[in-house]
This record gives sequence, C-alpha cells and structure tokens, in this order.
Amino acid sequence: MTDTTFTPRVFSGIQPSGGLTLGNYLGAMKRFVDMQNVGGFETVYCMVDLHAITVWQDPAALRQNTRELAAGFIASGIDPEKSILFNQSQVPEHAQLGWIFNCVARMGWMQRMTQWKDKAGKNSQNASLGLFGYPALMAADILIYHATHVPVGEDQKQHLELTRDIAAKFNNDFGVDFFPITEPVIEGAATRVMSLRNGSKKMSKSDPSDASRINMTDNADTIAKKIRKAKTDPEPLPESAEGLAERPEARNLVNIYAALADQSVDAVLAEVGGKQFGEFKPMLADLAVAKLAPISTEMARLMQDQAEIDRILARGAERGREIASPILKKTYEIVGMVGS
Ligand code: AMP
Ligand code: TRP
Repeated sequence: MTDTTFTPRVFSGIQPSGGLTLGNYLGAMKRFVDMQNVGGFETVYCMVDLHAITVWQDPAALRQNTRELAAGFIASGIDPEKSILFNQSQVPEHAQLGWIFNCVARMGWMQRMTQWKDKAGKNSQNASLGLFGYPALMAADILIYHATHVPVGEDQKQHLELTRDIAAKFNNDFGVDFFPITEPVIEGAATRVMSLRNGSKKMSKSDPSDASRINMTDNADTIAKKIRKAKTDPEPLPESAEGLAERPEARNLVNIYAALADQSVDAVLAEVGGKQFGEFKPMLADLAVAKLAPISTEMARLMQDQAEIDRILARGAERGREIASPILKKTYEIVGMVGS
C-alpha cells in the first residue's frame, strides 16, 4: 500500500529523561520545526513519558523534565497552535494500541534491536519488560495517528524498520490495508551529531563528560568554551566533503556548522576550506551561540509559567485524542473486540 491514501502526517517523540543536547536539537527538534513550517503536513510531537519510565525515573524529576522538554519544543519554534504537542501518557490510546502490538511483534524481532542490547547490557535479566517492549510502544505512537512520516536521528532507524514490520504484519494477519507503511525521514547534515571529545561516539546526554556535548541549557560562554576545546586534528579544513572521510572530528564540526547554518557541507567548505581550526572554531562558536543562546533564554522564560505549559499540553492531548480515538476503535473492531 502506498501512503498516498493517508493524510500526510508527521509524528515524532523525545523522551523527557532530562538534558537536551545539540544532537537532539539538530537531529530532531530543528527538523520537527522545519516540517511544521514547510506546509502540507499535520505535525504531532510528543514527550514520550511512558518510554522514559522503561528505566528508573524519579517522579519529581520526570515532571520537571517533561515541562522542560515542552519548553524546549516551544522555544525551538514548535507552535502549539500549528502542531499538536502533548505528553504521551495523556493520550491513553498509545498504551492501548501498544498492547495490541505486543501481541503482533515477535520476541525475535525485539531481541535484535541494538538499542535494547545497548541499554540492557550484560544484565538483561534485570531490565524491565517495558524496556524490551519499547519498540512496540514506539510503533503504536506512530501508527495511532496513521502517521506517514517520522523525522528522527540515525539511531532510531532500526526502530522505524520494526514499525513498518509491525504495520505490515498487522495488515497481513487481519487481511486489511489499515496501517500505513511509515517513511522514516533521516535527512540533513546532522542526523548523527558526534561527541566533541571523540568523533566516533554519538553525542549523548548520558556521556559522563559534560565537555563531550553542548546542552540546550548551556549559556553563551559555556558553548564557546566547549567548541574551543573540541578535539580536532592538525590539518587545515579540506575544500570538499570527500576530504572529511577519514577525519571524524573535523567532519563532525563541519556537519554541525552546516546544520546550524542551513547550508550543505559543500557550501560550507567552499567558504572555509583551507582554514585552520584556530580560525574555524571561533566562527562555529559564534554561530552556535547565535542559534542556541536565544533558545535557552526562552526556555528559562517559559519555565517561569508552568501552569501555561500544562495548559498547552492538556490542549494538545485533547487534539491528539480526537485523531487517536477513532483509529483505536477501528483497530479493536478489526481484531474482534465486542463493543467496539
Ligand atoms: P532521545 O533523547 O534519545 O529521546 O532522542 C530524541 C531524538 O533525538 C531522536 O530522534 C534521536 O534520534 C535524536 N538524537 C539524539 N541524539 C542525537 C545525536 N547525537 N545526533 C542526532 N540525533 C540525535
Ligand atoms: N525512541 C525514540 C528515542 O529514543 C523516542 C520515540 C518514542 C519516538 N516514540 C517515538 C521517536 C515515535 C519517533 C516516533 O529517541
């Protein structure tokens, strides 16, 4: 089935587990804003609190992080009038469809997920059942809206393939054309922002070194300092993208520049090729500060009025349910639940 029969609709989510990084901003948030503004899509964005609790979350911190993430979405340019913005637990249809998908997905599919293997580690017997089933709930997040497009960073690719497998198996098992086969949207120069200390490791909020990442709450001085100290090599910047192939740290900084400036890597190198890092780093620091500092200032301002954030999320959940509720009802009917 092609997705042309479905309303063009974007869904994506971020876990409110604390600490947004430049990776989240460039790999996810900024692209959510672009898809909101490009026109032609309904856009639905979610703080996936049910996913966050697959590993332990302190309740007070979870509340704080959910509101801070909402502030991050809005400060980055998500307009709660244009987009539907809410936290996952407030649209119960996600969990309800998640259960159905627990019965569609196979153990073997889940066992192959690299995020499961990484997060459960050696002690998988002690991981929560929710962590194992995480990708089935993620498929439900997407398919409860019949979403056709899902912008994410590179690390979510395997989960989106699984979402397609679940939709296809459901359609096939029940002989219907009900769920769309969703398109992942993994595009741009920054689908995988790397650590500032190690160009072959992903930039992550869980890295023990704070110098490895730029946090969305960092102030201008901290941002500039971290970029100045970022690991590089001694060569000048190349004239074209091929010259970055064996230079992970240089490639990462150029990718970050390109994504922040909304330019292609080649366009950036046409401008900075031949320069030393001593000259390029201050340019990157200025650009990063110009783009990020207003966001962190706005986040702090929005956090002053929690009641307003809560009102926005409640309204978003209401709008989310208007789409999700009839899709769940139809799913129950297809599966054979009396009363649906
Ligand atoms: P998470 O914080 O793990 O819930 O991730 C939220 C979104 O940010 C997902 O779409 C991720 O793919 C994206 N993301 C996280 N870290 C990075 C990174 N270092 N580079 C690009 N995208 C990222
Ligand atoms: N698993 C995603 C992450 O860790 C978050 C997520 C949950 C998500 N449900 C989603 C992303 C649905 C896109 C669509 O980044």
